[in-house]
Amino acid sequence: FHVDTDPAAAQKGAYPHYMLKEIDEQPGVMRTLVQEYFDASGNVKIDQDLLDTLGQADRLYIVAAGTSYHAGLVGKELFEKLAGIPTEVHVASEFAYNPPLLSKRPFFIFLTQSGETADSRQVLTQVNEWGYPSLTITNVPNSTLSREASYTLLLHAGPEIAVASTKAYTAQIALEAILVKAYGEAKGIQKVKDFDVASELTKVANGMQELVDEKHNVEQIAKEMLSTTRNAFYIGRGVDYALAQEAALKLKEVSYVQTEGFASGELKHGTIALIEEGTPVVAIITDPKTAAHTRSNAQEVLARGANVLFIASRDLATDNDQIVLPEVDPLLSPLVSVVPTQLLAYYTSIQRGYDVDKPRNLAKSVTVE
Ligand code: G6P
Repeated sequence: FHVDTDPAAAQKGAYPHYMLKEIDEQPGVMRTLVQEYFDASGNVKIDQDLLDTLGQADRLYIVAAGTSYHAGLVGKELFEKLAGIPTEVHVASEFAYNPPLLSKRPFFIFLTQSGETADSRQVLTQVNEWGYPSLTITNVPNSTLSREASYTLLLHAGPEIAVASTKAYTAQIALEAILVKAYGEAKGIQKVKDFDVASELTKVANGMQELVDEKHNVEQIAKEMLSTTRNAFYIGRGVDYALAQEAALKLKEVSYVQTEGFASGELKHGTIALIEEGTPVVAIITDPKTAAHTRSNAQEVLARGANVLFIASRDLATDNDQIVLPEVDPLLSPLVSVVPTQLLAYYTSIQRGYDVDKPRNLAKSVTVE
């Protein structure tokens, strides 16, 4: 008689791996965030003191590492395009030794799933010495960065066990959108008032569900395109470029395929030299402004023999695009476009026979500088 007492294994339920479970949990995480941060009449619930302090800032500085940094890149677009507040995003380990020139009234936002990343903490310690206000957006209540910042907002994503971050990324972007909503409402910014974040995030949740339900389609694509390749590229513009960087990180960290995410217009300035017969290139197309440009960049690599996978929003898709994304607001598109790229990474790792939840050389939370 054997009793399985491994609580971690028990939590995995029917899933073979945490990463797949956590990818699948994302629609639920979106719904939880809507419940946690909106009241019954649709108003955002965020601490007034935090909003007052944020409202005084003349510039936001988002500081993070890894996947959280990539969520920050999307946050910049949200803060600038919707609320009109200048926003910089910095890699924590770079900021620590080479801080940028700061504005007169900076406000710092630390994005960190674990709340324990040493590089980010080092910056926060410095920010506290300078006496500037800060907010930590984290999944872990009472974590170090949460305790040491002026304010905390929680991601409510549930424990993330797989080393490669998935649901924390989407939770961070959703919470950034919620924060922009609260900030813009408080300032009376019309563009923000017109942006119904709660209903947009509900739309996102439904879209994510469609995508996770079609995971076997992505499994097949991973098999044909990535299971034996040496390298791969992701390309996009604007938020699709931000997404391309996260998609590339996801694939390289769990499958050990050398992968880069590029601004699609930048390919021709060097990287296109690496394109050979069969090189996988994934083109992300969710922005009507730049869709035609990214398609023409994809043509340039197709002409050199690349094996191109198109991931496009429904309204911009052609009949030949292999993955079609449910329509959501273009500024929130990374919340849905990331899902097939997470699945591509997951299945590629499995097909190559790797330990997808615990990739070599990586740690879930890096507490050394
Ligand atoms: C490690 C993890 C990454 C994570 C990064 C930042 O490198 O392997 O998945 O994105 O740390 O972690 P944080 O907890 O600060 O978001």
